[in-house]
Order: sequence, then structure tokens, then C-alpha cells
Amino acid sequence: MKTIRWGILGAGRIARKFASDLKLVEDAELVAIGSRSQQSADDFGNEFNILHRHSSYEALASNPEVDVIYIATPHNLHCENTLLCLDHGKAVLCEKPFAMNAREARKMIDKARSKGVFMMEALWTKFHPHYLKTISMIKEGLLGDISSVLINFGFKPASPAPARLFDPALGGGTVMDIGIYNVFMAMSVLGKPDVIEASMTPAATGVDEQCAILFKYSNGAMAQLFSTFSANLPTEADIAGTNGRIRLTSRFYEPSATIEYYPKYPDSKQIIPVAKEQGFGYQYEARHVNDCLRRGQTESDVMTFDDTLLLMETLDNIRKIAGIRYDADQN
Ligand SMILES: NC(=O)c1ccc[n+]([C@@H]2O[C@H](COP(=O)([O-])OP(=O)(O)OC[C@H]3O[C@@H](n4cnc5c(N)ncnc54)[C@H](OP(=O)(O)O)[C@@H]3O)[C@@H](O)[C@H]2O)c1
Repeated sequence: MKTIRWGILGAGRIARKFASDLKLVEDAELVAIGSRSQQSADDFGNEFNILHRHSSYEALASNPEVDVIYIATPHNLHCENTLLCLDHGKAVLCEKPFAMNAREARKMIDKARSKGVFMMEALWTKFHPHYLKTISMIKEGLLGDISSVLINFGFKPASPAPARLFDPALGGGTVMDIGIYNVFMAMSVLGKPDVIEASMTPAATGVDEQCAILFKYSNGAMAQLFSTFSANLPTEADIAGTNGRIRLTSRFYEPSATIEYYPKYPDSKQIIPVAKEQGFGYQYEARHVNDCLRRGQTESDVMTFDDTLLLMETLDNIRKIAGIRYDADQN
């Protein structure tokens, strides 16, 4: 079959990492970049040897030489940018968080369904070998019944901090940017929480600079999740059950994480080997998208629309409880 032709919408930081990893995907070619400015499109195009350099997102979405578009803009634009691409019949891989809230996510899903075009949230961790191994060990029962999940994710942004981390108009704050990984990991292990408690400390701009989240489950299990832009934390995940514990070392959501398995904790550490590829780790989700497109799928069977909606609805609930609001919530 022919090569899958990729375009990238938004020439920022993550777009560069994704473009670099796309070189590791055997049947993919990066053929187009769309930016708000020609200069930025040209710079990105030169850096990654891209043929089509568009000075608007509309021009990228209209390019007949493109099969699938990776959306790499700030959170507040994901819905608008995705709808634009779907309207032009382009398949979409959209960065996390998929949208500002579940209302926007539903709009995007309705559009993809009505157009019959593939769309997926770029929750890259779900495709990483260390994540898949962890989940399979838990499913095998190696940890027994899971009783507790403890996850922290914290970094102090280098000055000057990227505007999107603190700007409410761009969906700033820790929950949407990094807390989403804590929520995703906890729900991967324990499912949808029965009770949520959450509290945050606001930054000067009003977005959450730190947020502490507690998930409670009817069987007594708990997950304690913490995210912060105020401190450099280990960014590790501990998952413990009746038979043992797994610790995903820093950074738990990236392929660089190591799986430490403690069958009889605290003193029996085993390192679980996981094959590691070169690259940042974006190639796994890109390969999956290629596979879905080749099979003619309009929805991923790994990161489904239901998975995305559950994640968005849970983030909505957390924000409501912690008092984190965006203009997009009012529409
Ligand atoms: N999966 C991951 O590991 C991961 C890691 C980091 C970020 N992300 C996600 O990727 C998205 C982008 O993050 P990033 O760190 O790449 O952001 P970034 O460096 O600020 O890049 C975002 C790009 O979006 C475009 N853009 C359009 N309107 C904008 C506006 N009003 N303000 C700023 N940029 C605007 C710009 O590209 P043009 O000027 O070319 O149009 C900009 O370069 C976020 O949703 C984030 O959550 C995911």
C-alpha cells in the first residue's frame, strides 16, 4: 500500500518532537506543515525537509496531498482545528487534552462520525511498551487486587514560562497539561472513580498552579494524584495491590520509565525488561494511526471515542470540584 502522507498543524515544540519521531515510522511521510505564519512554516519545513509549507491551517487542511493531520496547537484550539480538518475530509490525530471539555469532545466525535473520517486523541502513553507491559502484569494478577495508586507529576517551567502553561485563554493550568496523565494512569488501573475530591492552588493568572486529586472506589481502593508547576517532582507512579507493587520510575508516562516490580515489597525489587526504541516515543501512536487508516477504520480500537469522553468528563468533574473554569465551559 502507498505511504501514509502526514501533515502537522501548528509548528511548536511538540510538533518538532512528533516530526522527528515520524521518521521512525516505516510507511509514513511528513509532506506538509501548516502554521499561522509563512516564516514559521518555512523554518519548520527546512528543519524537517517538508515539501508543502502552508501559511494557514485552512490551506493545510485543503491540501489534497495530505491523508492525516496531527493537531499540535494549544488546548483551546483543538476543537476548532480538528473540525476544520474533518470538514476537509482529513483524518486527525489530536494532541491531549483532546478538547477543553466534554462538550467540545462530543462535537468533534459527532463530526468525525458524520464525515466517516478517522480521528483519535494523541494519548501517546497508551501505546508505549512499558505501559502495555504494566497493564498486562496487572491483568495477569501479579499485583492481586489493587488498593492504592500514588502518582505525582511536577516541574518548574524554565523562565520565561511558555505562555500556554499559565494563560487561561489557552487552557493553562496543571490539570489539563500534566494532571491528565495522572488521571489517565489511575483510570487505566482502577477505572472510573466512584467519588472524586480535588483542591487547587491558583497561579496569578487564575489557572491551577497545583492540584491535588483523590479518587475513591466502592471497593475501598484509592488513587492520590498530584500535579504542580511549582516544584520539580520525581514524576513517578506507584501501583500497589494485595500481592505486590509496581513503581514506574521517572517519567512514568514516557518510554524512558522503568518498571520496578516488588512481588513482596519492600525488599524484592525486580526490573522488568521492556524493549526500548530510539526516539521520543511518538512513533508508536503514529504507527497505530497508520494501521487504522490502512484497515479503513474511522475510530481506534485502542484509544476509543469512549475512552476520550470518559477522560474528558472526568477532567470536567475534577475541574468543577477544584474550581477550575475556562471561558469554553460557558458555551
Ligand atoms: N503528548 C505530549 O507528550 C505532549 C507534550 C507537550 C505538549 N503536548 C500538547 O501539545 C499541544 C501543544 O503544546 P506545545 O508545547 O507544542 O505548545 P507550543 O510550543 O506553544 O506550540 C503550539 C503551536 O500552536 C500554534 N498556535 C496557534 N495559536 C496559538 C496561540 N494563540 N498561542 C500559541 N500558539 C499558538 C503555534 O504554531 P504556529 O505559529 O506555527 O501556528 C505554536 O507554535 C498542547 O495541547 C499540549 O498539551 C503534548
